[in-house]
Amino acid sequence: MKVLGIETSCDETSAAVVTGEPGEGAAAHLDSCVILSQDVHAVYQGIVPELASRAHLAAVGPVTDRALADAGLAPRDVDLVAVTAGPGLAGALLVGVSYAKGFALAAGRPLIGIHHLEGHLFGTALDDPDAVPPFVGLIVSGGHTLLLDVEAWGRYRLLGSTRDDAVGEAFDKVGALLGLGFPGGPKVEREASHGDPGRYRFPRPMLHGGQRPSDTEYLDVSMSGLKTALVHAVKAAGDLAGERAHLARGFQDAVIDVLTAKVVRAVELTGRSRVVLGGGVACNKALAAALGAALAEAGASLHVPSPRLSTDNAAMIARAALFRAGEAGPAVDADPQLPFPGLTAHGAPRTAHP
Ligand code: KG4
Ligand code: ZN
Repeated sequence: MKVLGIETSCDETSAAVVTGEPGEGAAAHLDSCVILSQDVHAVYQGIVPELASRAHLAAVGPVTDRALADAGLAPRDVDLVAVTAGPGLAGALLVGVSYAKGFALAAGRPLIGIHHLEGHLFGTALDDPDAVPPFVGLIVSGGHTLLLDVEAWGRYRLLGSTRDDAVGEAFDKVGALLGLGFPGGPKVEREASHGDPGRYRFPRPMLHGGQRPSDTEYLDVSMSGLKTALVHAVKAAGDLAGERAHLARGFQDAVIDVLTAKVVRAVELTGRSRVVLGGGVACNKALAAALGAALAEAGASLHVPSPRLSTDNAAMIARAALFRAGEAGPAVDADPQLPFPGLTAHGAPRTAHP
């Protein structure tokens, strides 16, 4: 089965073709993937939804044509059309969903709407055949921070999430604070790589002694106290030129410590032996290195997608659609608040694995 995926939920216009058998545990091959990142938002230091929609409108047709051409396919060779239906920016989602509906109708093929975050869980499996359930999933992007127990595809238990900013959002805000431009994540990482780890010691929010698995803070994260500490440190530093790298390093080290501790706790609680990373922050090499080392000590393996499958892309949407192929139908609508399918909320027992 050949699946055409289309993703326009935020500021990347992407189309991809994936080949595989529909259903559970299906291995899949990535035939093509085209990602066009919108750079217009850099001027405004953040994503401007109306500009995102307009850029998607101009790009979605050519990007899809390119993905099909790269895979050597005509529209009628596609068996299933998959599109991100939510969550995301309303106008941006609408462009992708409308285009996908038109494409499916013209080609006479079924259409399926995919949840963007479920897509992130599937992305790594395209690179790494071992990134399959059961695993602990950590999705860290510009809009979301989710720690999940993935018992099987389609069966997700929420272990922890952010109380305020998403991790990528915090990187972006700190990037702006340090005068690095948008998006901040890659730039903060670059600065941090030559910063002195001993110069600033920022708080590790929601990571203090004596926490127990029954505490609601045990697996949740928070970025606000850390951000405030950065604001004060930037003010105190005065001239940023000499301090920027050290501040970036202090911030990144704090984020890495918190995420690493929470993921190790999640592994201990669930007894899973694999952790799958997803979302734009998965591009952060320092995070992956620290997580990988801590997990090796805890007896678990870390599976990190390549950068193009970490940030938003349509390949992960097409891959998730193989699993959900049986649910294809005409009623696909853009929904900025789309509920995560198969997600059990907090509150399920957090017992240690025998
Ligand atoms: O998954 P993604 O492309 O879009 C969303 O769904 O939000 O993630 C984008 C986020 C941005 O906040 C960006 O700053 C962050 O991922 N990011 C990084 C790095 N590369 C991208 N954060 C930290 N380190 C990086 N190397
Ligand atoms: Zn995303």
